[in-house]
Amino acid sequence: MSGKYVTETAPANRAGIARAASILRAGGLVAVPTETVYGLAARADSAPAVEKIYHAKGRPDFNPLIVHVRDADQAARYATLSGTAARIAGTWWPGPLTLVLPRRTDAGLAPAVSAGLPTVAMRVPSHPIMRALLAECDFPLAAPSANRSGFISPTTAAHVLASLDGKIDLVLDAGACPAGVESTILAIREDGSWEELRPGPFDLTALRGLPATGAPADPAGAPVEAPGQLASHYAPGKPVRLNSQEPTSEEFMIGFGSIPGDVSLSAAGDLAEAAARLYSCLHDAARSDKPRIAVAPVPGDGIGIAINDRLRRAAA
Ligand code: TXA
Ligand code: MG
Repeated sequence: MSGKYVTETAPANRAGIARAASILRAGGLVAVPTETVYGLAARADSAPAVEKIYHAKGRPDFNPLIVHVRDADQAARYATLSGTAARIAGTWWPGPLTLVLPRRTDAGLAPAVSAGLPTVAMRVPSHPIMRALLAECDFPLAAPSANRSGFISPTTAAHVLASLDGKIDLVLDAGACPAGVESTILAIREDGSWEELRPGPFDLTALRGLPATGAPADPAGAPVEAPGQLASHYAPGKPVRLNSQEPTSEEFMIGFGSIPGDVSLSAAGDLAEAAARLYSCLHDAARSDKPRIAVAPVPGDGIGIAINDRLRRAAA
């Protein structure tokens, strides 16, 4: 793909991390590995740098970004962590859990990060390379998933290049992302209640067992929108048929468990493996000669909730 950038790839070693940090410091765009998916990072305190993210992704300007930081202390510079939020962050960060919190307006985040909302989404990732990078950066990193807006999320450097080659400065290549689906997003209300905005690898049953974290908010009264939770998302660019036992001759089949396919999410029927392989299988299906895609049923418990959420959006 042609564009104004020549996109470099750097291995995830000391030199690669230093290169990524120096590009980010100068206001550039770097695709970074996390435990969920690759993110497209820019410094969150620079309006021109954040603007480049929206431009490279073709992302609508009403869809806010997640801000990645080292720890809860750094998060507290940019957002208000109430009792509930502080307790959840203290227990489960770092990890695949994003908290939507009241934004501190005086803290120097580029306004476009929040797309006009009074809140900001904060996350402390656990991936060791991303942590090493955040340790080298004296600024927070805004990072949506590193794909063209609406397309399949990336879990490898090759997936990033499939849609952003020539549009970003660097890919920091740390191999495949272990969890494979985007972080769970929780909005924490001022009264301490919370609402799940996006299912992900973080298991909410852990929260329900913690009395001091309040109860799920009444969704009908929820003021915050999840603007990125559009029905059609993660789209491979061809029709997707879910809960299929067998493909037609026109379909590329994504199997699961005893249902075979051209590729399988997990022949062993393991949901964690299926989550880790989900976007790889969708990328394979998008690239294949077959004009359509069929997907075997995937159980809807645990991480299966997030897998089915993404499959429904891929099919919408
Ligand atoms: O695992 C992840 O969360 C990955 C990695 C890179 O960290 N990031 C990611 O970003 O999935 P993205 O942009 O693809 O999804 C972020 C979601 C969007 O649906 C966006 O609308 C929502 O978070 N979001 C961001 N800020 C928000 C806010 N203040 N209120 C409500 N939703 C928000
Ligand atoms: Mg995304």
